[in-house]
Amino acid sequence: MFYKHHVFFCLNQRDGDERPCCAARGAEAMQKHAKSRVKELGLAVPGGVRINKAGCLDRCELGPVVVVYPEAVWYTYVDASDIDEIVESHLRDGQVVERLLLEPQ
Ligand code: FES
Repeated sequence: MFYKHHVFFCLNQRDGDERPCCAARGAEAMQKHAKSRVKELGLAVPGGVRINKAGCLDRCELGPVVVVYPEAVWYTYVDASDIDEIVESHLRDGQVVERLLLEPQ
């Protein structure tokens, strides 16, 4: 497997208010934060962790959302400390962060 964890942050920006969007809830800054934290921890290497941008993942009402593959574990987050916990607990240590899980998975 090329990456141990492949992480997709929804960065979708939607105009109008028919549905909420992740971009309006800080997704871009949090994706950048995740990328730099993964790099700082030495995880951004082949066989390690890749942080990517995604379009709408269609779970907008529960967002902002991020999904980790190959496990297909879905999270939401509020701030950088939530992102740090996902990076350190799940991506580095292999422990799912139960309190940030989206339901249903
Ligand atoms: S806008 Fe992020 S899941 Fe739809």
